[in-house]
Amino acid sequence: MPSPCKTAVLISGSGTNLQAFIDAVEDGEIDLELAVVFSNNPEAFGLERAAQADIPTACIQHSDFPDRESFDHAVITELDRYQPDLLILAGFMRILSPAFVSHYAGKILNIHPALLPLYPGLNTHQRVLDAGDEWHGSTVHFVTEELDGGPRILQGRLAVAAGESADELAARVQAVEHRIYPEAASWVGSGQVAFKDGQSWVDGKLAEEPILKTY
Ligand code: GAR
Repeated sequence: MPSPCKTAVLISGSGTNLQAFIDAVEDGEIDLELAVVFSNNPEAFGLERAAQADIPTACIQHSDFPDRESFDHAVITELDRYQPDLLILAGFMRILSPAFVSHYAGKILNIHPALLPLYPGLNTHQRVLDAGDEWHGSTVHFVTEELDGGPRILQGRLAVAAGESADELAARVQAVEHRIYPEAASWVGSGQVAFKDGQSWVDGKLAEEPILKTY
């Protein structure tokens, strides 16, 4: 990857993970260039966070397009103006078409609020509480065509506390996300972690399991 790695952050909402990237770049903790913040939702508060940080923003509403493929094509055209080396999905609540994933093959990261492969999909915190799990957390992974199924890079886990609510658990998991996502992305940006042959490689060695941190 070129240095600094030109990075596009895709959001749909609040953008607290985006803020963690902005802070990490400003504090010199990670060597990424935040080239553009893209949203499918014009109301996303993350767009204001980006503007505050003088990062270019772009917004295209999916509801203006007849299908996923035409929307994704428009997003590609917009993002490619910035020639991104890396795409960070940070609460981007759209399923990506195969054409989009293959256009940026190996360059898209996502964060999912669960210890994948456990709990792909939505409502992860409540599902963890309902199951009575001891551990919960979040996973940074490369994006492939399989939803929440691409090779995992880094997981942050925490012990579920007795009697905590789904909202309390969600807040604690988000705090973990803010630590692990910029770090994992910087590994990819520096080339220390790479996507090859559909798998994740760390320092040139196949990573069978993600790196696991306990908080
Ligand atoms: C994050 O917790 C992220 O894990 C989740 O959306 C939240 C966005 O928060 N993503 C998914 O559920 C994707 N399947 P943010 O807008 O404050 O960063």
